[in-house]
Amino acid sequence: MSKLIGPFKEAITLADASLKGPLNDSALGIVENAGVLIEGEKILKVGDFDTLKAQASQVEEIAGEQILLPGFIDCHTHLVWGGTRARDYTLRMAGESYEKILQQGGGIFDSVEKTRAASPEDLKSGLIKRASRHLMDGVTTIEVKSGYGLDVENELKILEVVKDSKEDIVADLVPTCLGAHVCPKEFSDKKEFLKYLENDLLPQLLTKGLTNRVDVFVESSAFPMEMAADYLQKAKSMGFDLTIHADQFHVGGSQIAAELGARSADHLEASTDREVQILANSDTVAVALPGASIGLGMNFTPARKLLDAGASLAISTDWNPGSAPMGDLLVQAAILGIYEKLSSAEIFAGITFRAAQALGLADRGKIIDGLRADLVSFPVNDYREILYNQGKIKPCMIWKNGNQVSHV
Ligand code: NIG
Ligand code: FE
Repeated sequence: MSKLIGPFKEAITLADASLKGPLNDSALGIVENAGVLIEGEKILKVGDFDTLKAQASQVEEIAGEQILLPGFIDCHTHLVWGGTRARDYTLRMAGESYEKILQQGGGIFDSVEKTRAASPEDLKSGLIKRASRHLMDGVTTIEVKSGYGLDVENELKILEVVKDSKEDIVADLVPTCLGAHVCPKEFSDKKEFLKYLENDLLPQLLTKGLTNRVDVFVESSAFPMEMAADYLQKAKSMGFDLTIHADQFHVGGSQIAAELGARSADHLEASTDREVQILANSDTVAVALPGASIGLGMNFTPARKLLDAGASLAISTDWNPGSAPMGDLLVQAAILGIYEKLSSAEIFAGITFRAAQALGLADRGKIIDGLRADLVSFPVNDYREILYNQGKIKPCMIWKNGNQVSHV
């Protein structure tokens, strides 16, 4: 039983776009008058709509001119939190630095206090609300980090909320443990805290099936390089995939990411040519987080340099209550693109298959035979309108696992 959807004015398939390096817009892999033949959750075939009609047992014709893209993938978020950080934002607008607010016991610590105090029900409803908004913006796969618990009980609470929310959320959630976000106030020794996570938290994540991904904030104000590397090495030997908050304020994290074969190194606002080269020579995906640059009033990740050096570049929101409260992937990708001089193909690759690579997911991110039928369609007649409108034009149709999502 196969279903044909279309005809789309254009499908941006990204079929032959490479995992690493610069892309020009011939890599968009545009198919005109496109139809997508879907069987179950997967794409069976992509091609000319009228030709594919003969093979379809069912045809769902769309209304008006539309441009089809792979469903977007946000490979770095912190979507489970309690409270608000409007106070921090106001302080930052007045010139206070993010790191100083953190050193004074605010910032991430503020969210930890509110998240620890929140019930699982309240955290779940916040997560569902944010993930639903993301889905309506075309995001069909969302990575979600813990990291506002900072003790075994609360880190488990957050990751259990993610697990329990899966049946209420259409987008796929990919959980990650960021227990090593900062050292909580009850520990005076960072090394001791990391030992505690290693011994008391990480094994439980595996036995309870909560996540197979571990993240660390590598920064002197959080966890310095060597300490972080030891912890990550331990996590790796237990079978975890690694991802790292790297080079946000000072360099160091990207080198560890490359050395340990992390799936991704995220942030990179402070990366110099040396770190760019290290990442380009590795299989670690560089993840730009323009929402954090906008939220902190800081430089953007050197996306152009990373691509030109040969790195793989994903773009993600970092949606969190502190540094990146906006959480709008398309707006942020379009803004990064104009500042960093990226091609449309580089931007779309960054929020689709290159982001999938950062999550270790080989089954999504392009519109090609055999991949998951996660699709997003915009009510425009030229793909260039989508980024040009900087997120103001929203998707008009979305499919997750081959099923059309309602209420768009
Ligand atoms: O990715 N830099 C560290 N962690 C988060 C921010 C967390 C927060 O400020 O609450 C980030 O920017
Ligand atoms: Fe983050």
